[in-house]
Amino acid sequence: MNINIREEQEKDWYETEAITKRAFWNLHVPGCLEHYLVHLLRSSKDYIPDLSRVAEVDGKVAGTVMYSKSYVDNGKQKTEVLTFGPLCVDKEFQNKGIGSLLLKTTFEIARKQGHKAIIIFGEPGYYPRHGFKTCDNFHITTKDGKNFDAFMGLELVPDGLKGVEGKFYQSEVFENIDAVKAEEYDKKFPYMEKLKLPGQWDT
Ligand SMILES: CC(C)(COP(=O)(O)OP(=O)(O)OC[C@H]1O[C@@H](n2cnc3c(N)ncnc32)[C@H](O)[C@@H]1OP(=O)(O)O)[C@@H](O)C(=O)NCCC(=O)NCCS
Repeated sequence: MNINIREEQEKDWYETEAITKRAFWNLHVPGCLEHYLVHLLRSSKDYIPDLSRVAEVDGKVAGTVMYSKSYVDNGKQKTEVLTFGPLCVDKEFQNKGIGSLLLKTTFEIARKQGHKAIIIFGEPGYYPRHGFKTCDNFHITTKDGKNFDAFMGLELVPDGLKGVEGKFYQSEVFENIDAVKAEEYDKKFPYMEKLKLPGQWDT
């Protein structure tokens, strides 16, 4: 298997969204919005294309990680941090190390670009193996003052979050995604049935 990690090009847009749909469909809720989010992110002011990457396997897009700017606000000052998401790997290529490679590669690029930390909402079972700790370790809460297992941070450099305390705000592009527009956008992709499955978030 020949894996190539590279920047996304416009010719990849449809395929990146299609794999995102397949990876997230019926995972957390019946259906998913993540492929529409990928589309929205690309035109967001907070999107960071020079850090986002796709994984190509034998010439075919098989995974993606998209980065955006977010910040921690202590009431007096805002400190910029990174967020990534969606991170996904196409169904048929999962558990072959591609997600890990996308993360490892982009963490290295982020360090070279001078970024100090990443904060995410993500799978609590997956990210600790990549060095993430829950944000209560850093005295950082959600914008609603909460901490929970899925809310995690990673210091890209030693003490990358030292002195950074307060509330975390991710890009507005993640908030209040319009479900009607998402439904309409989904029609570009092959039909998949929405199912309510055990293990999904309560809706
Ligand atoms: C999560 C995801 C990006 C991981 O990428 P991947 O290439 O499949 O994963 P890797 O091959 O790098 O790592 C595989 C390991 O991670 C574990 N893993 C994968 N997804 C996991 C999850 N959601 N929770 C806990 N562990 C997980 C596997 O069990 C495997 O463990 P092992 O090495 O002990 O056998 C991919 O499975 C995916 O796209 N999932 C659906 C979308 C998703 O959940 N994205 C993350 C949202 S925060």
